[in-house]
Amino acid sequence: NRPPIVAIDGPAGAGKSTVTRAFARRLGLLYLDTGAMYRALTWWVLHQGVDPADAAAIAPLLVDLDLQLESDAGGEQRVQVNGHEVSEAIRGPEVTAAVSAVAAHACVRAALTGQQQAMGQRGGLVAEGRDIGTAVFPEAECKVFLTATVAERARRRAADLAQRGFAVPPLAELEAQIAERDRLDSTRAEAPLRQAADAVELVTDGLGIDAVIQRLVDLFRERV
Ligand code: C5P
Repeated sequence: NRPPIVAIDGPAGAGKSTVTRAFARRLGLLYLDTGAMYRALTWWVLHQGVDPADAAAIAPLLVDLDLQLESDAGGEQRVQVNGHEVSEAIRGPEVTAAVSAVAAHACVRAALTGQQQAMGQRGGLVAEGRDIGTAVFPEAECKVFLTATVAERARRRAADLAQRGFAVPPLAELEAQIAERDRLDSTRAEAPLRQAADAVELVTDGLGIDAVIQRLVDLFRERV
């Protein structure tokens, strides 16, 4: 019997990364940010001058793709793709605007899902993304679907961008971007964003970070 796997899925900007990282630290589980993997690949696609919509041009980039995810001493996740340190760049607007197109390709999903499953083979981890409970780890012991209204998510995104030193677009524009990414992620053919039948929905509007983390800890203790 391997140690448990926790699957945390949900739409863009629901605050998954912040709470998932803290939750993992509290329970001594490994933390896997699968969005960072799709973002790092997207950075590489753009860096190579490849069209994010062109699956045939992206497929060869997957053959020797070298993605490295590690947590630094401060608990921040560092991401490298083919030797390039991209931890900050993958949070920027160019990557954010292109990532859903790249993530929709079947060849991309097969490659990254395979890597994620290999990383989770021994269990003892919390994985966060769009399809963890439905496609990557359907056998996860604890599944949570973390959501918030688009307005709330746009406000959080604005605060996050400002904190990372990026320009902050008007809230209406952020809402439109988030709604569009939700639409692309939930309508694609391969592993679309949706709540697993056995996932618990957690709506985080009006809940602080600590309250959400505590809810996750309670759910984990109930289930595992
Ligand atoms: O979670 P984050 O916003 O970093 O994810 C970026 C994008 O990566 C998502 O909008 C989605 O297109 C893609 N993604 C995915 N499957 C996952 C995680 C992320 O398709 N498991």
